[in-house]
Amino acid sequence: MVDVVLGGFLGDEGKGKVIEFLSKNAEIVVRCCGGSNAGHHVEINGKRYDFRLIPTAILDENITVVIGNGVVIDPKILANEIKILKNNGYSVNNLKVSEKAHIVLPYHIKMDELLEENRGQDKIGTTHCGIGPAYCDKYERAGIRMQDFISSRFEKLVKRNVENKNKIFEIYGKETEDSSAIIEEYSKYVDIIKEYVCDTVMYLSESEKAGKKILCEGSQATLLDVDFGTYPYVTSSNSTIGGVLTGTGLNHKYINEVYGVIKAYASRDGEGPFLTEEPEEIGDKIRELGHEVGTITKRPRRCGWLDLNALKYAVAVNGITALAINHLDVIGKLKRVKLCVAYKYDGIVTTKYSSNPAYLAKCTPVYEEFDGNFDDVLEADAREDLCENAQKYLDRIEEVVGVPIKFIGIGSENENILFK
Ligand code: IMP
Repeated sequence: MVDVVLGGFLGDEGKGKVIEFLSKNAEIVVRCCGGSNAGHHVEINGKRYDFRLIPTAILDENITVVIGNGVVIDPKILANEIKILKNNGYSVNNLKVSEKAHIVLPYHIKMDELLEENRGQDKIGTTHCGIGPAYCDKYERAGIRMQDFISSRFEKLVKRNVENKNKIFEIYGKETEDSSAIIEEYSKYVDIIKEYVCDTVMYLSESEKAGKKILCEGSQATLLDVDFGTYPYVTSSNSTIGGVLTGTGLNHKYINEVYGVIKAYASRDGEGPFLTEEPEEIGDKIRELGHEVGTITKRPRRCGWLDLNALKYAVAVNGITALAINHLDVIGKLKRVKLCVAYKYDGIVTTKYSSNPAYLAKCTPVYEEFDGNFDDVLEADAREDLCENAQKYLDRIEEVVGVPIKFIGIGSENENILFK
């Protein structure tokens, strides 16, 4: 059986905490999409490391960790993560990297920066990790896959691609890339990575048939999905349920629970529509209470209220069967809290959601207000122990969205959760 964890809104919902909890029962944990634009922290011997590619389950050597074919991998970052693990005594024998995953090279990062510069006022606010250009190469059929990276084809492909990209860099007066320098540097990473590269598609297929417990961790979130998100203010992969299948080769008929992870409020890192954003005092307060700073970008995140209209859309797109809500303790520190339950469009109240930025620009949120002051949640051992205000807030979310909340994050520590 395959359980899936996906971002229910705009990312940074605390998927890592849910994954860490659920992976205790998993035999295999798979990453499906995105790349080093995602981030989670790992504590090794009491020291914090920010990992961007390898799932945290790597620390449990009984769990096999797979980086699926849908991920775009920066070999420099992957090699560094492997090195950190090894230096701390981990064998890393439980890592498998798909031979079909595409790689990110320095010219992708340079192109990402150039494209953002050219967009001017209309910039997307990317993480500058080269994600969009790497996926562009994949779909243009110019990409370099892991199986090429660890073979003698690597040199030839880099030379061809650098030659092509340099023509663009020259037009824009940018410094060009040197293919020999890339080949020399990245060959060192080949030596570190190649032993993990394999056919993960057949491995996963055989594992699911054998009844292994598999957990898929999504990256980014529904409204950042290249098809279903607030395009063009999105990432360049399918961060919804479809990306789980195409990014791993797993079979849809084995999918069991699909967790949609949300925060008890909302945030956005980067540009694009965010109807329930509180740009002033309240947003600042939520940012401060929730320590809302981009993991990769280090930008202060835009903060606001949970948008149930958008969440219903995420449920529809992904077939979400259970909600996981984080940071209940954070929002509970406020005196009054709000939930967006509908929009006003041209003066008419509607529950229609569309990810089209032009539609969203004409909408204003319709809120329901709740009493806050429910930050004593840390004392709770079960949802029933939460105070009335917190329960009312959670009940209303379930009522509007029609999906049960199975996981509640009630504090900053990984063990601060309620699960049923
Ligand atoms: P890219 O994925 O770097 O191309 O960035 C595209 C958009 O997705 C930008 O608005 C980013 O801020 C956003 N984004 C990408 N990854 C994440 C993430 O892990 N959390 C939140 N936002 C993200």
